[in-house]
Amino acid sequence: MLNEISTLRTLIESQLSAISSPESLEQFRLAHLVKKGTLTALMERLRDVPKEDKPAVGKELNLLRVFAENEFAQLKSEYDTPKIQTQKLDVTLPGRRNKQGSVHPVMQTLDEILSVFCKMGFSVAESADLEDDYHNFEALNFAPDHPARDMQDTFFIKDERSDLLLRTHTSSVQIRLMQSQTPPFRSVMPGRVYRNEAISARSLAEFHQVEGLCIDTNVTFAELKGTIITFAKEMYGSGSKFRFRPSYFPFTEPSAEVDISCYLCNGKGCRICKYSGWLEICGCGMVHPTVLKNCKIDPEIYSGYAFGFGIERVTMLRTGIDDIRLLYENDVRVLEQF
Ligand code: PHE
Repeated sequence: MLNEISTLRTLIESQLSAISSPESLEQFRLAHLVKKGTLTALMERLRDVPKEDKPAVGKELNLLRVFAENEFAQLKSEYDTPKIQTQKLDVTLPGRRNKQGSVHPVMQTLDEILSVFCKMGFSVAESADLEDDYHNFEALNFAPDHPARDMQDTFFIKDERSDLLLRTHTSSVQIRLMQSQTPPFRSVMPGRVYRNEAISARSLAEFHQVEGLCIDTNVTFAELKGTIITFAKEMYGSGSKFRFRPSYFPFTEPSAEVDISCYLCNGKGCRICKYSGWLEICGCGMVHPTVLKNCKIDPEIYSGYAFGFGIERVTMLRTGIDDIRLLYENDVRVLEQF
């Protein structure tokens, strides 16, 4: 009898391991676990076992029955519950998100600059990066041998036309605007500019500027100051202080440079402002009468102001990035902060 039980165990074990569907599980049940199944048949024969062997045989048989029933119940519950609940998968976990791109910090600054000027009634004008000497220098009152040309080291284009260059500032767009339209003007002109400069923490050979130009009758320096201060307070906060320092540009007279109180030390002096308490933000001035004449605008009737500043510089002042190269190294650890 013990041998039979052991043979049946081997059979049951091998059948269990072969079960691969609810149908084969049902066949297993019909073969072993019902009234007419193998286990009950053996139970019935327990009667004929000699009295002294009964406990051992009965125990062995009982163990096999419990084993078969448990295995059956386990497999049945696996087939009955949906797979998703038995897999080790937490369906409530949030999915992994794809990283989303965002607008580059320099372009975010540009968008904001333009929206501030649009609120102040400025339109937006653009022109090409490739310029000629006339629009980049000559019409802006840089004489051919004018030493101020050295202020901006220029990339010249090797071409049949020897006067082509990459614009060194967006002031060339002023000329194109004044030549193609009649005053009054009130425009800002964003664009990429190029200078043959050594790349360092403070300067790149390719960067962005926004130029501003306002030409009308009776435009005064006071209006220029008001415009720049209103703009800068919107960008840097209303607590900032400003100063206008006399400066020189061939295309404006008088000319000035504008400084803002250092955002880091609040004017006390630190590494960023080189212990002066001030950071330069833009160049500006009243449009030189010669420039107006070059664009066929009568300086006796019209006057105006112009200003220009670097967008990377504004971005650095607002974000606290103190190395301009970080903006273009495409390190996501930097860029994803904005
Ligand atoms: N074009 C000048 C520069 O690049 C800035 C400027 C613009 C100054 C307009 C005065 C008026 O440095």
